[in-house]
Amino acid sequence: MRFAGKAALVSGAGSGIGRAIAEALLEEGARVVLFGRTLEKLEAVASRHPPDRTVAVQGRHEVPEEAARAVERALEAFGRLDVLVNNAGSFLGGTVGETSLEAWSESLAANLTGPFVLTRAALPQLRRERRGAVVNVASTLGLKPIARAAAYSVAKAGLIMLTRATALEEARNGVRANAVCPGVVDTPIHARRASGGPEGVAAFLEALGKQHPVGRIGKPEEVASAVLFLASEASAWTTGAVITIDGGISIA
Ligand SMILES: NC(=O)c1ccc[n+]([C@@H]2O[C@H](COP(=O)([O-])OP(=O)(O)OC[C@H]3O[C@@H](n4cnc5c(N)ncnc54)[C@H](OP(=O)(O)O)[C@@H]3O)[C@@H](O)[C@H]2O)c1
Repeated sequence: MRFAGKAALVSGAGSGIGRAIAEALLEEGARVVLFGRTLEKLEAVASRHPPDRTVAVQGRHEVPEEAARAVERALEAFGRLDVLVNNAGSFLGGTVGETSLEAWSESLAANLTGPFVLTRAALPQLRRERRGAVVNVASTLGLKPIARAAAYSVAKAGLIMLTRATALEEARNGVRANAVCPGVVDTPIHARRASGGPEGVAAFLEALGKQHPVGRIGKPEEVASAVLFLASEASAWTTGAVITIDGGISIA
């Protein structure tokens, strides 16, 4: 129960990695604001837990008023905020040459501006206890690009630098900031990356798994366990760290 008495806000908590992070925090005693675009998904997660332990808040993290509302709901419901997990994001394929300005802006909003806006909104509360933690979910593509994922890779590289800037500026305020860089993880984010319906996607992911030295793609829970370490007191002297959780793909 590493998070007993603590309150966390997880963006993109309705599916995939974010849901696994929220569930793991709840299992370890935290109360959690589940923030994301689709209320039904957030409520489905909330319904599995006592009502006083979760709050579902619909919104887009890149919209300042909506991000601020998620932080306000944490204070109203739990009276505090100790942990912010900037997990929400979306994948956009496309080369530099073929990416429209609109798609570029959307990818930066979803993967970089959102975490910036939500972090800015949460910092005053995270500083209050002088033991605040921000964990950003970046990507191995933020460290090393692949072809046809330009806007996503650039946004995730920016998120890694946002992590370091936050860590540097907030260390004396008692707030740590760290990032995880997952390799390919089995979540709905890949649903449109292959043709042939669910079977086509499964075959695509299996092929991607073989590119990882451990021979398979990751599970959301395997990312969540690293996020919980970075959010917990077990990592009290760790800030500005960027940790790959990737079955070895970044060294392949
Ligand atoms: N899966 C992978 O292979 C992988 C690898 C590396 C990094 N990541 C990163 O891991 C994070 C979680 O992704 P996932 O794989 O778990 O995908 P996912 O299941 O699609 O989850 C993404 C979540 O983010 C939410 N979201 C997207 N844009 C948002 C916005 N503008 N405002 C608020 N919420 C927003 C989505 O909400 P709705 O469902 O309501 O749209 C969804 O709940 C992302 O940042 C992703 O880039 C994933």
